[in-house]
Amino acid sequence: MLKRTHTCGQLRIEDAGRRITLSGWVQSYRDHGNLVFIDLRDREGLTQLVFNPEAQPDIHALARSIRCEWVIAARGRVQPRGEGMDNPKLPTGQIELAVEELEILNEAKTPPFEIENTSKTGEELRLTYRYLDLRRTKMQRILETRHKVSKFVRDYLDHRNFWEIETPMLAKSTPEGARDFLVPSRLVPSSFYALPQSPQLFKQILMVAGIDKYFQIVRCFRDEDPRADRQAEFTQIDVEMSFVETNDVMAVLETMIAKLWKLILNVDVPVPMKRMTYKDAMADYGIDRPDLRFDMKLKDISDIAKECTFKVFTSTVENGGIVKGLCAPGGAKYSRSDIEKTFTDFVADFGAKGLAWFKTKQENGKVTLSSSIAKFFTEAQLERIAARFDAKDGDLLLFVADKENIANKALAPLRSRLGRELKLYDENAFEFVWVIDFPLFDWNEDEKRYDSLHHPFTAPITEHLDRLDTDPANIISQAYDLVVNGSEIGGGSIRIHNPRTQEKVFKLLNITQEQANIQFGFFLKALEYGAPPHGGIAFGLDRLVMLLTGTENIRDVIAFPKTQKGQCLMSNAPSEVDQKQLDELNLRTQKHLHAIEKPK
Ligand code: AMO
Ligand code: AMP
Repeated sequence: MLKRTHTCGQLRIEDAGRRITLSGWVQSYRDHGNLVFIDLRDREGLTQLVFNPEAQPDIHALARSIRCEWVIAARGRVQPRGEGMDNPKLPTGQIELAVEELEILNEAKTPPFEIENTSKTGEELRLTYRYLDLRRTKMQRILETRHKVSKFVRDYLDHRNFWEIETPMLAKSTPEGARDFLVPSRLVPSSFYALPQSPQLFKQILMVAGIDKYFQIVRCFRDEDPRADRQAEFTQIDVEMSFVETNDVMAVLETMIAKLWKLILNVDVPVPMKRMTYKDAMADYGIDRPDLRFDMKLKDISDIAKECTFKVFTSTVENGGIVKGLCAPGGAKYSRSDIEKTFTDFVADFGAKGLAWFKTKQENGKVTLSSSIAKFFTEAQLERIAARFDAKDGDLLLFVADKENIANKALAPLRSRLGRELKLYDENAFEFVWVIDFPLFDWNEDEKRYDSLHHPFTAPITEHLDRLDTDPANIISQAYDLVVNGSEIGGGSIRIHNPRTQEKVFKLLNITQEQANIQFGFFLKALEYGAPPHGGIAFGLDRLVMLLTGTENIRDVIAFPKTQKGQCLMSNAPSEVDQKQLDELNLRTQKHLHAIEKPK
């Protein structure tokens, strides 16, 4: 085999005259009768090969038989391209390789789609032939970035004395709020392992074990429906530290993130990063992961609304609800049907019963509001509404009257949508914010018990410890989330290290002592043997790479991802298994049971 000496992205005009060998895939093929041109591709780039019939008639004839995606090796002399033939878009665009020796290493079937031009190719086809899809420059750059991110994180944490330690994949259920993937045990019949939703309990136990500083780039499994930013199988950068408080964890990791942005994007991210309480985030943005690239804060106008004569507003406030809204700068350009149909349907999907609106106009130095419901308000009330939002000429005010949580649920996505549509932010900007001071619990009305907002191992702030007995609803936790541009990229907390406190929390979550013992007995036991104060965080590696590569589809940053239905289209997982395998595991599927029942 011709041994390659260079990559396809390497050669420059200075190399002209050298005799070298390249190997790779045929990206494109142009037969000009006398000259044959081939663009040869490998991971590093493209180089043009040229075959001249006069210099090398045999090689030229062989080259004419080559087709796209064949694998070849070519040896020859680097030469400047002909006059006016440079391709300034390619780093190798000033040279070409005049081929003197050619070896066809493998042929290829005609690919089901053009490798570089996939704009019209459906994702299903790309995922079915993922090995062809991954040949694309875009995908290779993403995989390269992903590698660089992992490598940087490992080095950064290693320099700060963190140890990377693997925790089991065949494990016991850890509650992160999703469904578990189960793996049946052959040796212990009728028993199952759970694939980890996160290494939460193991990393805490490593702190009990005196490991002090741990990290792991680790696969996590959650049996939820995949979404644009969610996969059932995803990767965390998981970190835990002993003898630390919130600020210590934040300081180490925000610096890591800022350095990562510098390394990959050459973007300066100021540290310390902004912090915002959960309460402020919910009040101003209606969501605990605010997009701070643009302002457009939500405002509560219940105090004004309750005095008007618009029944929808007054009765909502009387019944304990609120009237909350936003002011979209320049939004008056939207037509009535945009507002009453498109936007109203949009918020209805999030549970809002309607969307009230006003357009603003600047007249005689005053901002006036117009709308079909303006007649229900006095001039003074309208002025107060305009003033609350500091409304300017040509703005659009939109309101939802409902229970606070529904108003927030509807307005937060509406704010995102308007921010995008009205181009209120720079697409290349990154706005980081730590959201802190989350409540420890959420009341679950259906099941009449508390839910953990983060997870059951999160510690309350010390000042609120006694509220576990008296006022659980009003406990602030030591949890923190790192949010960028409205996406949660990481979350963590200072943990409970006192077994009595942990027991109280389980009790409030309605987990009985018996259940707790079955599920987390090993962990509660470990807490009894000198657990140090500790805390940590986990980042979604996939989400980091999405932000760093500017893609909105999580499948683009995973080499072999699953579809919305959790399937791998290339390998056809999940699939049925042999009866023999099931027998060994002592398992029967519904299908087999029906087959057994039928003959009766
Ligand atoms: P949490 O559940 O918040 O915390 O997860 C941490 C981060 O992991 C990412 N993430 C996901 N990414 C892709 N697909 C998913 N299905 C998915 N689920 C989560 C998010 C999220 O911020 N054990 C705790 C961490 C800790 O307390 O230390 C945990 O897992 O970016
Ligand atoms: P209606 O009185 O139902 O004709 O509604 C008049 C206007 O008020 C319409 O623009 C509705 O979208 C809006 N509206 C109705 N219910 C609500 C609500 N709960 N919150 C905000 N606006 C509403």
